[in-house]
Amino acid sequence: YRETLRLMSSNATRYEKIMEKERSLGSRVKRAAIGCLLVYLAISGLIISMMMAATIYRPLPSQMGVTLRDRIRGHIFESFTRLFYYYPSRMCPNALCMLHWTRWSMKRLNKLMDPWFDSHPELLMETTTWNGVKVLVYHPRNQTTTDSDGAIVYMHGGGFGMGDIEMFESLTTAMAKQINARLLVSVGYRLAPETTFPGGLEDCEKVLEYVIANGPAKYGVNPNKIIVMGDSAGGNLAASMTQRRKRRGSKPKLFGQVLMYPLLQLSDMQTPSYRLWEREMEGLSFVDPRSVAFYYLWYAGVDMNAHPEYAIAATENRHISEETRRVREKFMNFFLLPAEFQDDTNSTTSLSPIPELSEYLTPFLTNPDFAPLMQPNLTDLPPALIVTIGFDVLRDEGALYAERLKAVGVPTTWTHFGPGFHGMFNLHNRLQGAGEALANLTDWTREFLRKSAE
Ligand SMILES: *[C@@H]1O[C@H](CO)[C@@H](O)[C@H](O)[C@H]1NC(C)=O
Ligand SMILES: *[C@@H]1O[C@H](CO)[C@@H](O)[C@H](O)[C@H]1NC(C)=O
Ligand SMILES: *[C@@H]1O[C@H](CO)[C@@H](O)[C@H](O)[C@H]1NC(C)=O
Ligand SMILES: *[C@@H]1O[C@H](CO)[C@@H](O)[C@H](O)[C@H]1NC(C)=O
Repeated sequence: YRETLRLMSSNATRYEKIMEKERSLGSRVKRAAIGCLLVYLAISGLIISMMMAATIYRPLPSQMGVTLRDRIRGHIFESFTRLFYYYPSRMCPNALCMLHWTRWSMKRLNKLMDPWFDSHPELLMETTTWNGVKVLVYHPRNQTTTDSDGAIVYMHGGGFGMGDIEMFESLTTAMAKQINARLLVSVGYRLAPETTFPGGLEDCEKVLEYVIANGPAKYGVNPNKIIVMGDSAGGNLAASMTQRRKRRGSKPKLFGQVLMYPLLQLSDMQTPSYRLWEREMEGLSFVDPRSVAFYYLWYAGVDMNAHPEYAIAATENRHISEETRRVREKFMNFFLLPAEFQDDTNSTTSLSPIPELSEYLTPFLTNPDFAPLMQPNLTDLPPALIVTIGFDVLRDEGALYAERLKAVGVPTTWTHFGPGFHGMFNLHNRLQGAGEALANLTDWTREFLRKSAE
């Protein structure tokens, strides 16, 4: 009996030992399984994100960006814009959807890219209405502390169809601080297609008239020291305003014009810089030929919702009539461009024009109020600063305008920033290259406004 008990107890101990071993083995197996699962998830997560990154990744042109940091930020900016604006806008069933999506997403993206503003206690800011046009006004708290008694009337970009004074607030605030004149006003002109040419242009002129009439008493502005300034489509409006005032003999004369990567023509969408885009930037979300055509045609009153195919046709120059071509040839001589801009100078396509589109557009494309580069007489225009950018479909028209102004004796400074892209001034806080280019422009403007008016 004792023997039996001994055996039983030793069996029990052994049994317990076995059970313990099994338990510890079980928990080890469990831990190993969890470990495997985690490793598996990590690896597949890594593979998925690498695949996503590879899908999203697009090489930038090799010369873009002045520093490595700018290049990395350029990549982030580009892929963000492609994911949240470009791809969804291409999925839109019609042009109106595309327009509204672009307006909405660009505004949100802009907020995301530039969420903070510097404090600016020396400046007073006010959103108001001048002659029926919404404006954002900057003026110094203390007039005696400004660098000049000049004023700047600023027109924002956005292809005449998007953008507003809020979206450009970071840029206009930086400019107002750096130029430090008596007044900077950002014009909230009406947009196409709701308001087509020349509605937006007339809004800008109304604001200019307001500044001439009220600037001296209200802000201590010298009415002979007013500069018009604009980027992209805003550069078109600024250039057009100077030409119209000269043509009408309006007094006082404008003191100067600052055109930042201006949009000046739609008679040739196959210029060397448009070609450069096809070679180096196809599929990237920077301002592309199709978008330029889309918005510019809408500004001309073409119903893009009924004819979305016209945008692509225009990028192939199928919107050009014989007459437009004749006018264009007088003003767009690519041999005026620097040699390094001239590749592909003669490769313009010879697809036949779309009759109804090209005929409708002739009076617009050849009208200097619509396309300032088509102005035959550029003499006596106000002194100009023209800024062009390397990776920009509009590079060549800006450069040509500068060369033509110089040729007729208009004092003209042409500044070219090779590594940048169209729209980069809006990222002045994010990209060193854009910040430097902006500082260069505002330095020029501040010093120019210190000169005395005639
Ligand atoms: C404006 O600035 C000048 C020069 O700095 C100063 O003398 C003057 O008191 C200031 N005026 C006001 C109202 O702050
Ligand atoms: C381009 O055109 C010019 C003048 O029309 C001509 O001299 C030149 O040979 C052409 N270049 C090419 C590559 O076709
Ligand atoms: C160009 O405009 C100026 C006035 O600014 C005028 O004197 C000149 O005659 C015009 N030239 C031509 C060719 O029309
Ligand atoms: C900045 O502007 C000046 C003229 O105001 C010009 O001479 C200079 O080359 C510009 N800098 C760059 C980097 O383009």
